[in-house]
Amino acid sequence: MVAARSPSVLRQKKMLKIVVPFLLLLVVVFLVYNKEDYEKEYPLLLENEQLVVCYESNIDQRRPLYAIAPLSETTTDESSTTQRNHQHHRQQFQQQQLFDGTEPIIYIVTPTYPRREQFPEIIRLGQTLMHVPRLHWIVADDTSSCNAALNSHIKKFGIPYTQLASPMPEMYRARKNAPRGVANRRAALHWIRQNQKKTGVLYFGDDDNTFDLKLFSEIRYTKKVSMFPVGLIGDYAISTPIVRNGRVEGFFDSWPAKRKWPVDMAGFAVSLEYLALSPNATMPFKAGYEEDEFLKSIGLKLEDIEPKARNCTEILVWHTQTKGSKSPTVRISMDRQKLNKLNLGALLSRLESMGVNHISESEGTTAQAIVNGSVKPLSFWFS
Ligand SMILES: *[C@@H]1O[C@H](CO)[C@@H](O)[C@H](O)[C@H]1NC(C)=O
Repeated sequence: MVAARSPSVLRQKKMLKIVVPFLLLLVVVFLVYNKEDYEKEYPLLLENEQLVVCYESNIDQRRPLYAIAPLSETTTDESSTTQRNHQHHRQQFQQQQLFDGTEPIIYIVTPTYPRREQFPEIIRLGQTLMHVPRLHWIVADDTSSCNAALNSHIKKFGIPYTQLASPMPEMYRARKNAPRGVANRRAALHWIRQNQKKTGVLYFGDDDNTFDLKLFSEIRYTKKVSMFPVGLIGDYAISTPIVRNGRVEGFFDSWPAKRKWPVDMAGFAVSLEYLALSPNATMPFKAGYEEDEFLKSIGLKLEDIEPKARNCTEILVWHTQTKGSKSPTVRISMDRQKLNKLNLGALLSRLESMGVNHISESEGTTAQAIVNGSVKPLSFWFS
């Protein structure tokens, strides 16, 4: 005899019939909704994206930072020989420095954004790049207006450069994991195309990286795509291709994340001839997947990759990273004009123009002076 089902079991079954499809619907809606973010096609420029070239110079105005001196003394005592050797050394040195203008130009793209480390970073990177011949520096700032204070620093280096204003679209800024630097690199790609740059090499070098100068001579003659290790990345403190018998066969990176090309932004260079073959190449606004998607968009194949840095045994670039705290607010309640009688007037204004700190009359840490070991209000000098 079959026992009749109790009414409560029947009710449960009915409930399931309603609840299960409802849950499935939720999952589908969630997937569709999420997919929008990740699988959207990204045109090179969004509709509201613009290429704003703020300042530009194509003239190399660099002067050597240090006097040219022979590296080693000769052993002979004969003065004329010594002199000749000195001359020889000098010529050799200059020949190393002097390029004949046929070498491929390195277009280094540096996204930057307003924060208190911005200026120090740009100064440090600029002074590194001063040593690299045949280089064009594209500095793309994450702001909607052109930063003149930034330009006054960039142009001092004498390096041929282009300064862009390339703000991240607001819709992405609202995300918790905002894709920083993407609008900047896309603007730089756009500039390269618009200016018909079809020879040379493209390199994405961030302002918080440290570069060994050797890196630039390694990447200058990149045929298609070159790759090399980047120090201080992730839980291995390194991200690098795995090289066997002089060929890239895989990758070593502590964040695989299903990426086909698990490399750091500073870990590859692309020749512009090769880039020109993919007119729709772009970088998506997808945090963590910028490198992977960009390299997919240029149709990269494993056999196209040239390992650099002695078959990826040397570290020529580091992700030093200087993630800082917020710019502090300094409270100065007295008339600031008066401070112009001291160095503090000009000094604090300069810091403020660089976004390093803010001055407020009513908030923040009160500015005080120390005189003979005791704390005084700033008005001390004016009383
Ligand atoms: C890289 O490895 C290959 C194969 O072992 C070798 O022929 C080549 O000389 C190496 N390159 C460098 C720069 O050491």
